[in-house]
Amino acid sequence: MSRLRSFSISVVNLLKEEIVRNLGALCGGLLLCLSLAVSADPIIIKFSHVVAAATPKGKASEFFAQRAAELTKNKVKVEVYPNSALYKDKEEMEALQIGAVQMLAPSLAKFGPLGVKEFEAFDFPYIFDDTADLHKITQGPIGASLLAKLEPKGIKGLAFWDNGFKSFSANTPIKSPADLKGKKMRIQSSKVLEEEIRSVGGLPQVMAFSEVYQALQTGVVDGTENPISNLYTQKMHEVQKHLTLTNHGYLGYAVIVNKKFWESLPVDVRGQLELAVKEATIYANKIAQEENDSALEGVRKSGKTVVYTPTNEEKMAFKKAMAPVHTKMADRVGSELLKSIYKETGFDPGKL
Ligand code: LMR
Repeated sequence: MSRLRSFSISVVNLLKEEIVRNLGALCGGLLLCLSLAVSADPIIIKFSHVVAAATPKGKASEFFAQRAAELTKNKVKVEVYPNSALYKDKEEMEALQIGAVQMLAPSLAKFGPLGVKEFEAFDFPYIFDDTADLHKITQGPIGASLLAKLEPKGIKGLAFWDNGFKSFSANTPIKSPADLKGKKMRIQSSKVLEEEIRSVGGLPQVMAFSEVYQALQTGVVDGTENPISNLYTQKMHEVQKHLTLTNHGYLGYAVIVNKKFWESLPVDVRGQLELAVKEATIYANKIAQEENDSALEGVRKSGKTVVYTPTNEEKMAFKKAMAPVHTKMADRVGSELLKSIYKETGFDPGKL
């Protein structure tokens, strides 16, 4: 063998070895990268909602996101989209069902269009005296049976989160039901709320939450009802001259997930997320009243709205005007359900 040929052969062999070594390193590196990528890729939960970040729901969803990351050791990343940034009221329900988002916390007044009318039981005027009454339902067997009604819709209900009691606002003073006569009042998409507004002679206008500020500003509607935390964080008080602390009805949330997505989660991860929901529920229900109190303080300080606290007689007049809603709308949610709520809370519509 010529020296030149044996030199060429050894060069070729060296090159081969080099290529194999490099390929090995390359493949090893790639495999490592791939496995790192797989283990580092978190499960994404898109959590969409319509209110501001600085509200009971906004804060509770952020709290949930943080605890979900901690408890799952970052296997789950919850992305919170506040202020209708992704979807408005109706669209977010549809987005959940098709899996475009995984988690929501819509107000209980927004489940009627989905076909679960029973949730409108929460909208009956004065049905809860206070939060303790409300929790007998949301934290008890009636609440659990309501959440179970979502399953045939491809939705799993995980919890109820508080906001608070609603008050009426408008550009003219509201001291009696007659003051709402003929007023176009924005409400959420609930037939019980439509009847509530009719009971005081108002004209109910269903509208997405994201459109309310502008509708009030331009006079498309005259007034609205909401807990103060919603009113204040949307700056509605800047376009409403009068706010009366009627506390005539409740507004709170059901925390819901796409059922298929939820059931596809690894069992351990699902358990950790259930714990995160539990903790977030305690947190939400602890801060809700404080948030509404400080929002009221903010409204008062702004000097843009006259805040009126009705007398007992004035409160009674609202109660009496709205009492017929209980009989008129009983069939909407089922009179048995309504009676079981009355029994639990001790509420008697006949005494209004
Ligand atoms: C509303 O539409 O007034 C509320 O349901 C908004 C919310 O989510 O609190």
